[in-house]
Amino acid sequence: HLEAREPEGGFAFEGPVGKWDVAQLQRGFQVYKEVCSACHSLNQVAFRDLTQLGYSEAQVKAEALTWNVPGIDPDTGEDVMRPALPTDYFPKPYANAIAAAAANRNAIPPDLSLMTKARHDGTHYVYSLLTGYRDPATFGLTSGETLREEFPEFETPEGLHFNPYFPNLNLAMAAPLSANAVTYADGTEASVDQMAQDVAAFLTWTAEPTLVKRKQTGWWIMLFTLFVTVLAWFAKKQVWAPVK
Ligand code: HEM
Repeated sequence: HLEAREPEGGFAFEGPVGKWDVAQLQRGFQVYKEVCSACHSLNQVAFRDLTQLGYSEAQVKAEALTWNVPGIDPDTGEDVMRPALPTDYFPKPYANAIAAAAANRNAIPPDLSLMTKARHDGTHYVYSLLTGYRDPATFGLTSGETLREEFPEFETPEGLHFNPYFPNLNLAMAAPLSANAVTYADGTEASVDQMAQDVAAFLTWTAEPTLVKRKQTGWWIMLFTLFVTVLAWFAKKQVWAPVK
């Protein structure tokens, strides 16, 4: 399968001095909410975590109320769905694994919270996967020959979808994004490439919300280490000064 590729211009949080592009994370959340959450859970993320994306507590509370989570009726003790609170975690789209598999031709959509960590080069992988669907009839790995000519045995079974970035080459998820699948609140044009970048950035944040902090701390550690090294150098000189 193909190595993941990065979008033109890369991601704002990459590199030693990278920073989150908060507007992008908000757009990515919108894509998760309006597209991916139909099938994929986000187990490790609570609504209150969204304050880190620049939303106010009131906005988070209002957002949570638009989602339903499993709860218990205080009067009857029965299982019911209730509007979420900021302390709740994002709900699962299916009641259980059997329902999830039944709805997706036997494949269970994996939880996306740690996806960018679980896969090699995860951020780029998610971006590549979402933008990587191709027609297997015309796709060619090497110049000139198509995959079909090179490997006559290769086929994409009914109900699966060809994607050269997926290790198995065929996966149960159909291309989830199409142009203007969402209408961005900030007016950004919702091309497939844009939405794929945004949701890949958002999922990088869910997997490692402290990524930017970690890099910044790293710089202070380096500075401190340099300082201690200089100190040690002068101390050594002073200690050994009387020895001729
Ligand atoms: C698998 C992302 C929308 C159904 C996956 C994988 C990722 C992903 C990263 C894992 C691939 C791997 O295992 O390496 C997304 C994103 C979405 C989205 C970011 C929104 C933009 C959807 C939707 C559905 C869906 C709407 C259902 C209609 C599945 C299924 C699999 C899967 C069934 C398992 C595929 C297999 O193992 O063959 N998705 N997905 N996904 N997704 Fe999605």
